[in-house]
Amino acid sequence: MSARGAAPAGVQGEEQISRWVRGMFDGVAPRYDLLNHVLSMNVDKYWRWRTVRALRAVLTRPGALAIDLCCGSGDLLIALGKAAGARVMGSDFSHQMLRQASAKVAGKGLRSPVFEADALRLPLAGSSAGLLTCAFGFRNLVNYRKGLAEMLRVLEPGGTAAILEFSTPQNPLFRRFYEFYSLKVLPRIGAALSPNPDAYKYLPDSVRKFPGADELASEMRVAGFADVSFTRMTFGVVALHIGRKPGP
Ligand SMILES: C[S@@+](CC[C@H](N)C(=O)[O-])C[C@H]1O[C@@H](n2cnc3c(N)ncnc32)[C@H](O)[C@@H]1O
Repeated sequence: MSARGAAPAGVQGEEQISRWVRGMFDGVAPRYDLLNHVLSMNVDKYWRWRTVRALRAVLTRPGALAIDLCCGSGDLLIALGKAAGARVMGSDFSHQMLRQASAKVAGKGLRSPVFEADALRLPLAGSSAGLLTCAFGFRNLVNYRKGLAEMLRVLEPGGTAAILEFSTPQNPLFRRFYEFYSLKVLPRIGAALSPNPDAYKYLPDSVRKFPGADELASEMRVAGFADVSFTRMTFGVVALHIGRKPGP
């Protein structure tokens, strides 16, 4: 992969980057939902809805365990919980994000527990989950290959992984508009609304450095996933990658 993991400006070493990313999300947690919906003009809700729809067959399998990695404030976790016959749990390494998630899950009357964990070292037995999702979290992992390997370890044979992430729009005209928005407009809105303006400089930078959809798909295949496919949404602003752990 051209980029091997999150690389915030001026921070070096996996441990330091991981700590920086966690601290940054702890800092933005109270305003995260507001900024998410404002900056995406609410389209993020549509992306999560499409993700749940694509996973409906796995989600309605009785007894299956679904875990939303990097669940943040819980929006995908809640959408999965509403759709599922499966048991759904969320995990994240930001304590403050998890506090938001727990409160929101309880407010919706759902029973989807959350637990604090690094997605690169999940406290889960091998082959224990039928579905792993990760929405806008994978890009922030300090090591993408370790992230994919950990997903494969935890998935049961035949289990599904779904990664929803920002990507690069393919149409050159739209790409220019999107670059202008994400490099010039987004950091200003972030600075005005967030207690941590640096976070909203990191966001467009991390999106720019993240591998394109084709590259991520081939990296998933190299990691050992089968039946890898992806769907671009909203002119390629995001892509949903789905892969399966080989097995029955
Ligand atoms: C942009 S937010 C996305 C949150 C949520 N999934 C959503 O769709 O809104 C990224 C989340 O990934 C989490 N994260 C980043 N690296 C992580 C890691 N190594 N382990 C666990 N969580 C991580 C952050 O704490 C943050 O809550």
